[in-house]
Amino acid sequence: MTAGKLYRRIVVAVASQPSVERFTVHSAAMRGVVGRFVAGDSLAAALTVARFLHGRGMRVTLDNLGENTTSAAAATLAVDEAIAALEQLRQHGYEANVSVKLTQLGLDLGEHIVTENVQRLLARARSLDGFVRIDMEGSSYTGRTIEVFSDLRSAYENVGIVLQAYLYRTAADVEQLVAQQARIRLCKGAYKEAPHISFRRKRDTDRNYVRLMEYLLRKGNFPAFATHDAAIIDHACGFAKEHDIRPDQFEFQMLYGVRRDLQESLVSKGYGVRIYVPYGKEWYPYLTRRLAERPANALFIVRHALGEERTSEAARYT
Ligand code: FDA
Repeated sequence: MTAGKLYRRIVVAVASQPSVERFTVHSAAMRGVVGRFVAGDSLAAALTVARFLHGRGMRVTLDNLGENTTSAAAATLAVDEAIAALEQLRQHGYEANVSVKLTQLGLDLGEHIVTENVQRLLARARSLDGFVRIDMEGSSYTGRTIEVFSDLRSAYENVGIVLQAYLYRTAADVEQLVAQQARIRLCKGAYKEAPHISFRRKRDTDRNYVRLMEYLLRKGNFPAFATHDAAIIDHACGFAKEHDIRPDQFEFQMLYGVRRDLQESLVSKGYGVRIYVPYGKEWYPYLTRRLAERPANALFIVRHALGEERTSEAARYT
């Protein structure tokens, strides 16, 4: 096993301990660490970050954190909150754009419930000229997420989906969804997946990412490349130039708090950059995924505990 895999396994194992979650969620010291990757507890905090980012020429998609909702009432509330985010973005003069997870909107409770919920969200988004991106979760949800998306896609233009380059199935999914003119965000994938369905070696995932990215650049409908990988981003820019694909035919997407230098450099070169801005109280699983994908983030926690880091990424924008 590589050191990277071992690190990831340890982080996931430690983070899944209820006592660690309790400590992390309630610890005042951890607030600063959370602020590095999460805009804040409230929509108001996310809007403050959106204002900073728009001021720097970036677009945003807001994500009210939450997943695996266990009641219909909670799923309804999640839709209400996503609608509030769309309305507030529009009211502030920004593009109304949110990212949601289907399990947050009731996928575990049945496809009928989740489809109705997404429809309500899409109808309101459409009236605001807004857009809803469906995030991709672990592989036990991939097929159902694509089905729900495909059923809605024929009635709604303003919905997009995410596909993960680490899964073997994704090449076929890309082809099928491109045929439906789907708007696809391509990412590498953030969940722990079994070896028979996913690439084991990072370099194989990266290679697959590049292959799918080239396909999407040539055939996709305003594809979004969600990565902080500078080599892959360089490749995208070169490939687009070579094939006369204009910068306004695709965009890059990055996470709040990750590689701000790269975000700004792409904007300065005239590329579209959208920042994924997570907010809300349900940040624990999201933070765990961010820590697991990069050992330097564990060092960040240590440095924060030693008082060497500023408390929030938003502070860096001021
Ligand atoms: P990679 O992991 O190779 O990292 C490349 C470089 O980026 C690193 O060397 C480092 O500089 C920087 N970096 C990456 N991650 C970092 C981190 N956590 N902290 C600090 N620096 C970091 N996944 C998923 O399964 N479903 C989804 O719906 C989404 N949605 C999504 C939206 C957006 C806008 C982004 C950017 C990402 C996602 N992801 C996702 C997460 C994605 O799958 C992946 O886990 C991360 O983006 C990390 O992979 P990279 O492509 O950045 O490359």
